[in-house]
Amino acid sequence: MRVILVGPPGSGKGTQAKQVSERFGIPHISTGDILREAVRNRSALGLEAEPIMAAGGLVPDDLMIGLIRERLAQPDATKGFLLDGFPRTVVQAEKLDGILGGNEGGDLSVVVLLVPDALIVNRITLRRSCGACGAVYHLENLPPKTAGVCDKCGAALVGRQDDNEEAVVKRLAAYHAQTAPVAEYYRAKGQLKEVDGNAAVDVVFERVMRSLGA
Ligand code: AP5
Repeated sequence: MRVILVGPPGSGKGTQAKQVSERFGIPHISTGDILREAVRNRSALGLEAEPIMAAGGLVPDDLMIGLIRERLAQPDATKGFLLDGFPRTVVQAEKLDGILGGNEGGDLSVVVLLVPDALIVNRITLRRSCGACGAVYHLENLPPKTAGVCDKCGAALVGRQDDNEEAVVKRLAAYHAQTAPVAEYYRAKGQLKEVDGNAAVDVVFERVMRSLGA
């Protein structure tokens, strides 16, 4: 099972990816999470990515392709994977085809979550994540039981550095200019599945599973 989740910032990729990867027993590979960990560790990649991410831009293709090539070579990815946040440009999609040995066999499914721009700023500015286990909440739609505290592990909830309105507007612009064409790239290959992401998390999950034939 090889799945790619595409969608604008805040469309619910991370939320759905966790559940889908658990259901299929495949690793959830989020390039955003990998980059945020690099930033926390102050690695060379993190230092280069940090200002770009904070401003809502895209990290250069060559860095991202190298990162994903290494990650997909890990043993846990040999039987399948769910990619969340990659590919984000047509160049990344073309290089991924090369990494996957041509991607002509048809066993890759690409799900795009459709959520109107008007909902995105609310979803992102009210998002809070657990600083320890990464669980994701929303102050209105998916609030923690105790304000500011993770239900799962009890650690403090934090906002992301790029979750302010100014950066969100730039991230949306980057999505429409550079990532929406990725969906068209996979549509032309007959691999794109469109899912309406404007519904409750469980409803969207059922839609995603149905689109994957599960
Ligand atoms: P990344 O982490 O991938 O950010 P993103 O694409 O902007 O997506 P988000 O993580 O913001 O949102 P999401 O779709 O996962 O939504 P979530 O489930 O959290 O990338 C960050 C940055 O890294 C990029 O801007 C770029 O700089 C860089 N980067 C990463 N990959 C790159 C690449 N390949 N190339 C170049 N640069 C790259 O949900 C959002 C909120 O909504 C949450 O609060 C959640 O609880 C709530 N929610 C979710 N689903 C629902 C629902 N159905 N109903 C109501 N609320 C919901």
